[in-house]
Amino acid sequence: MLATCKEVRPVGNLLELRSVTKIFRYGLFGFGFKAVDGVSLALEDKPLILTIAGESGSGKTTLARIILGFHVPDSGEVLYKGRNVHRLQSGDIKWFRREVQAVFQDPYSSFNPLRKVYSYLHETAVNIASVDKREADGYIDTVLKAVGLSLDKVINKYPHEFSGGELQRVAIARALLTRPRLIIADEPVSMLDASLRINIVNMFKEFKERYGIAFIYITHDLSTAYYISDEIAIMYRGSVVEHGPVEKVLIEPLHPYTQTLMESIPMPEPKARERWLKTIKLSGVIEEKEFIAGGCKYASRCPYASKKCFEKPPQDIVVGDRVVKCWLYSEQKT
Ligand SMILES: Nc1ncnc2c1ncn2[C@@H]1O[C@H](COP(=O)(O)OP(=O)(O)OP(=O)(O)O)[C@@H](O)[C@H]1O
Ligand SMILES: [Mg+2]
Repeated sequence: MLATCKEVRPVGNLLELRSVTKIFRYGLFGFGFKAVDGVSLALEDKPLILTIAGESGSGKTTLARIILGFHVPDSGEVLYKGRNVHRLQSGDIKWFRREVQAVFQDPYSSFNPLRKVYSYLHETAVNIASVDKREADGYIDTVLKAVGLSLDKVINKYPHEFSGGELQRVAIARALLTRPRLIIADEPVSMLDASLRINIVNMFKEFKERYGIAFIYITHDLSTAYYISDEIAIMYRGSVVEHGPVEKVLIEPLHPYTQTLMESIPMPEPKARERWLKTIKLSGVIEEKEFIAGGCKYASRCPYASKKCFEKPPQDIVVGDRVVKCWLYSEQKT
């Protein structure tokens, strides 16, 4: 049934996350909560779109912020082109900011309301992309045209003078100005009208092909994920439980959590929805237990859980061309 089945750590040469863990501490006694828990992921050095999906609070944004260098992990490391992003020398910081760009959910919070957006574009072009000041406007215009805008439509405007969709396109143009190799887009379309969403995600697909950019696309929306991505990583309670080609993961999910996630999408078969509603109901009751459990965090919701699943956290297991964090796919049944 399974092509290969052994425990390994994935390797890649654009981005590599090695057992990355981020703990947030709360209260007087510093209760530690693992928002990201032992994530290992690798992106090959080629244009591709990796979606990171998972329910609210599963650690997607925290993981994105770790990759961008905004959060320092408590353990593990993030390598971008072989360099640890949390230990960059001062000369490499500018290089990293050029290579890796971000687009966030709310474009209005990315721009100071009292500053014209052009000043951001100019600053990025000159200071980060090192474009000659005399050529900056021409360059900015070309990049704005790639997102369906132009310099004359943007130059005199403040953020509130744009619609959400337009301002998100300005944010994407700003990211493109540095000629990045990787763009991390954290729920970039979730605040936009449904009619505009496909337009923006289509741009990612186009830029991947035209400019050879890799994207990490963070979303709750599995339909746009399926539509634009090459790979998908499913997060659950801080862990990546399944990662592989999007078609395989979404059409033939291996991890029981991915299976439940897919069953939650409206479908004619009534039993599937029933099963999903049952797990949602259950999750409220067992949530605390899931965080402190020594074994798999999904075990108490999983229909296939065995004794081992409650005792020992599952490893990343390679199954053909994907990685699944589930004992069901281990050769070691002990
Ligand atoms: N700076 C912080 N300090 C303390 N806890 C945090 C911080 N940032 C995130 N968390 C907690 O870490 C967990 C993961 O949050 P995160 O924002 O990464 O989830 P998410 O998957 O992006 O969720 P959503 O889909 O709602 O955006 C949540 O429980 C959140 O409350
Ligand atoms: Mg988030």
